[in-house]
Amino acid sequence: MAMLRATCNKLNMGLAQLSLIGLSLVLLFEVGHAVDKSNFKTVDQCGFARRHKDIPEGQSPYAAVLDSFHIEADGVMRGNILNTKNGVLLSLEVFGLEDRMVRFKVNELSPIRPRYEVPDVLVLEPTPVRWTINKQDSTSIEATTSSGITVLLSSQPFRMDFYDNKQLVFSINPRGLMKFEHLRERRNSLDQGEEGPGLLDLAKDAILDLVGYRSEEDQDQPVEDGEEVENVEQAEEKEPEEPEEPDMWEETFKSHTDKKPYGPSSIGLDFSFPGFEHVYGIPEHADSLALKATGSSDPYRLYNLDVFEYELDKRMALYGSVPFMQAHNKERTVGLFWLNAAETFIDITSNTADKSFFGRMFDYVKGESDVPQVDTHWYSESGIIDTFLLFGPSPKDVLSQYTDLTGKPFLPPLFSIAYHQCRWNYNDEDDVLQVDANFDEHDIPCDVIWLDIEHTNGKRYLTWDNHKFPDPGRMLDQLAAKGRKMVTIVDPHVHRDNNYHMYKEGKDNDYFVHKQDGSEYEGWCWPGSSSYPDFTRKDVRDWWASRLSHDSYQGSRPNLFNWNDMNEPSVFNGPEVTMHKDVVHANGWEHRDVHNLYGLYFHMANADGQIKRSGGTERPFTLSRAFFSGTQRYGAIWTGDNAAEWGHLKASNPMLLSIGLAGIPFIGADVGGFFKNPDEELLTRWYQAGAYQPFFRAHAHIDTKRREPWLLQPENKLIIRSAIRARYALLPFWYTLYYNSSQTGLPPMRPMWMEFPKDMDTFSMEDQFMLGNALLVSPITEKGSRATSVYFPGTDPWFDVDTFFAYQGPATHNVNADLDKIPVFQHGGSIVPRKERVRRCSSLAVDDPYTLTVALNNAGTATGDLYIDDGHSFDYKQQKYIYRQFTFSANKLESRALSGTGFETNSWLERVVIIGLKSLPKKVELISQTITQLSFTTSHNRQVLTIRKPGINIGQDWTIRLS
Ligand code: NOJ
Repeated sequence: MAMLRATCNKLNMGLAQLSLIGLSLVLLFEVGHAVDKSNFKTVDQCGFARRHKDIPEGQSPYAAVLDSFHIEADGVMRGNILNTKNGVLLSLEVFGLEDRMVRFKVNELSPIRPRYEVPDVLVLEPTPVRWTINKQDSTSIEATTSSGITVLLSSQPFRMDFYDNKQLVFSINPRGLMKFEHLRERRNSLDQGEEGPGLLDLAKDAILDLVGYRSEEDQDQPVEDGEEVENVEQAEEKEPEEPEEPDMWEETFKSHTDKKPYGPSSIGLDFSFPGFEHVYGIPEHADSLALKATGSSDPYRLYNLDVFEYELDKRMALYGSVPFMQAHNKERTVGLFWLNAAETFIDITSNTADKSFFGRMFDYVKGESDVPQVDTHWYSESGIIDTFLLFGPSPKDVLSQYTDLTGKPFLPPLFSIAYHQCRWNYNDEDDVLQVDANFDEHDIPCDVIWLDIEHTNGKRYLTWDNHKFPDPGRMLDQLAAKGRKMVTIVDPHVHRDNNYHMYKEGKDNDYFVHKQDGSEYEGWCWPGSSSYPDFTRKDVRDWWASRLSHDSYQGSRPNLFNWNDMNEPSVFNGPEVTMHKDVVHANGWEHRDVHNLYGLYFHMANADGQIKRSGGTERPFTLSRAFFSGTQRYGAIWTGDNAAEWGHLKASNPMLLSIGLAGIPFIGADVGGFFKNPDEELLTRWYQAGAYQPFFRAHAHIDTKRREPWLLQPENKLIIRSAIRARYALLPFWYTLYYNSSQTGLPPMRPMWMEFPKDMDTFSMEDQFMLGNALLVSPITEKGSRATSVYFPGTDPWFDVDTFFAYQGPATHNVNADLDKIPVFQHGGSIVPRKERVRRCSSLAVDDPYTLTVALNNAGTATGDLYIDDGHSFDYKQQKYIYRQFTFSANKLESRALSGTGFETNSWLERVVIIGLKSLPKKVELISQTITQLSFTTSHNRQVLTIRKPGINIGQDWTIRLS
C-alpha cells in the first residue's frame, strides 16, 4: 500500500490509467498541484552537505607540501596536500592544457579503495602542456605554461591563484572551504576523541619526512593573515578532523535509509572569480539566467530528479545536471567545469575582491573603486576533485573550450528542428491519422507526431498496444508517405514480467542494477514493479541499442525515432522519487557515484541503437529528459513538466539559455505548458515563443483538454499557423546555426551578452535573446501585453523582420506586440536565408528556392552563411555538403564556398531583399558565367530593395552587382 501511495503521489495529476502488478486501476487525481517539496531534500537534510556548507572561512587545515611538488616528464605539476588536522595526504596534479585550459585533480594519495572518476564524459584526454617553474620559496611556487597561464601555489593554507597574462582570474580555496573526506574503516564506537584515522593508514615517519619542507625558522614566522602556522607534529596532537557523525554511515530521509557501506566520501572546494559580478550556467534550475547569490537560501543543487510541476525562481534540482559555470565581465569570460557525477551543491556569494592578493604577484588593481568578485563553493557527495579552468577569453572561446573537452553537439536531422506535435496521448491509430490529416486540412506544417506511454502494451517499451495500434508499420508508412515522422516514448524502467522480452533478456544476462545484498533492485514506475538496466555498462547499452533494430522493435520503421523520459532515473517509491544511492552498478560503484550519469548513458544507448539500425548511415533523433555534460553529443532535451502558466512561459527563456550555455544547444520547453489548460492567448503566445526556441514541440498532460491548433478560435489558429510557418521559413537559417554549433559548440539561442560581451546592460537580460548573431527575439510572455520594451545593443540598426522598420541602438525602444506580432529583429550587418513556400513538412521543401534577406549595417555591409546537406545521413562527414558565405559590400553581394564538396542541390535563389541601402540602384546584374540583368522593386518608402528571380543555383558562385 505504501508503494501504491508513492505511485499515487507521483501521479498527483488527474485521471490517469495505471497498471500495477497486473492490477488495472483508475485513479482520480486533481490536476494542478504544485510540487510537493517535502519529497525533496533541502541542503540541511543532506548529511554530507551539512558538513560542507558551514565550514568557517579562513581556517583551512590543508597545506601544500611544497617540497613534494615537481614537474614530471609529461609536463604535469604533481605534489601533495596535507590535511594538518588528521595527517591524511592528498595528491594534487595540475595540468596545463592546450587551448588555454588548466585541469587539476585532487585525490587521496592512498585511499583504502579507489574513488570514482567520471568516465565517458570527456571526448579525449586533453594533452598537457609543460609547466615551467618561475619561482619557488618556502611559501609558494609560481609556474607558467607556454600559453601564458600562471599559477601561484601557496602552501599554508593550500591555495592556488591562476593568472592569465598577469590578470588574476581564478582563486582556488581562497576562503579555505576545502574539505576532502578520506575513505575510512568504520570505527566500533563513535569515539570522538580518537586520533584521526588517516594516521592509521600512513606511516607517521613518512608524513614527517614530507612536512620537513618547512625550516624551523619558517615555522616560527607568522603567515600573512597573522595566524600561527601549524605543522604536522602539532596537528598530530589535535582532535581528529571532525567528530564522526552518525549520518556518515547511515542516513534516513522520510522512510528511506541510505546505508553507506563506505562511509563519508564527500569533497568540496571554494573558487573565487575576482573581477566578476555575473556567473551563469550550472543547469538545470527554474531560475534566472544570471545566477543569484544563494545567501541564506538553499544552494543550487545538481541531482537529476523527477520533479513534476516544478516551482519557478528556485535553486532546487531538476531533471538534468551540468556542473559547468561561466563568469563574465566586460573584459573577459572564463569557465569552471567540476567533473563530478554525484549529488552536488553550489553556493554563490557576491563579494569584493581581496585587493592585497591581487597586488601580491602583479600590479592588477589600478583603479580606486572596489573590485567585485563572485565567490562560489562546490561540494559533492563522492568522487574526486577533478576541475577544469577555461580561460576564454571571449564567451565563444569558453564554449569552444568546454565542447573540446565534452564533445561538440551532434548535427540534428533536419526534420527534428521543425515542428513536433505531442500529447499524452494520441489514443490510437485513427487518432494519429486524424491529427496528421488535420495539419493538412488547416495548412499547418508539422514534421512529427509523438506517442506517449499509453501506446505500449502495459508500459512495456518497444512494444505496442495491439488494440489501439494493430498495425504500427502501416501507420508509420502512411506518415512516411506524407514525409512525416513519428516518435515513441522509450523509458528505462523495465516491467518485471518474464513474458516481456526486455525483462527476460535483462534478467537472463544479469543486466539490471543490484541491491547491496546482490539481488535485483526493484523500483516502481509507470508499469508498477520494474527493474533498471545498468546503463553504465557498455554491454548493457549495446544490448539495449540492438533492441531498437527493426527486427527487434516490431512495427518500427526508419521514420520512427524515440523519446527517453524518466531517466533521472525516476523511481516512484525511491528516495526523492529516484534510485536508492546504495544500489550497486558495474564494478561495485554505488549509484551515489554515478547518479547524474544514468540518464546520459540511457540517451547514449538509444541514439546508438538508431544509428546501428540504419547500418551506421542515418543520424539519430532522441529526446531525453535527464542530462549531464556530454549530452549534446546524443540528442535533444526538454525542460520537463512545466505548467500552462505565464510564469512558466517566461521562465522557458532563461532555462533554455542556461542549458545552451552549458554546451547543450538542442533544447525546448513543452509548448502550451504540460500541466493545466492554457487559455487561447497563452497558447498563442507560447507557440510564438516556441517557434523561435531551438526544440519546438507542443505537449500536454493526459488530463488536459485537447489543444491542437485547429481547436482554437479562427484568429488564434491563424496566428499559430503563421508562427509555425515562420519557423519553417527559417529552417535553412536554423539548420546553418546547428551546423555551426556542431563545429564550434555555440548554441543557436544565445544570451545577449554572448553577442555583445562588452555591453553591461545585457548581462542580466533574459527576456530577449539572440539567434546566432543575426536575429534578436523578444517573445511576449505577459498576459494582455500588446507592446514591449526591447533593448537594441550596438550602434548598427536593427530591422523589424515584418515591417523592416529600423531601430537604432544602443537604446531601448517600445515596440508593437499585437497578438499576431512576434518581436523579431534582424541586425544590420547580417544575411538571413529563408525558404518561403508553405509545405506540409520540411522534407517536402528540399528543392525549394531561397530568399536571402540582407540587412545592412552603418558601413553598408553584411555577411551571412548557409549550410545545406541531405538533412538526414552522415554523408556530411565526408564533405558532402554545401557551406557558403554571402558577403555584401561596395554594392556587391557575393556567394562563395567556405567548405564542402560532392553535394548538389536543385534549390535556386528566388529573391534577394536588401534593407538599409542608402541609395537605390538603377541597374542590378547577376554575374556568374554570364551577366544577366535582374528586375527589382522597392517598397517600404524605398527602404527595401527586392531583387526578383536571380534564378541561379544556390550552390554556385555568383555575384549580384548594384549600380
Ligand atoms: C513525464 C514526462 O515529463 C511527460 O512529458 C510525459 O508525458 C509523462 N512522463 C508520461 O510519459
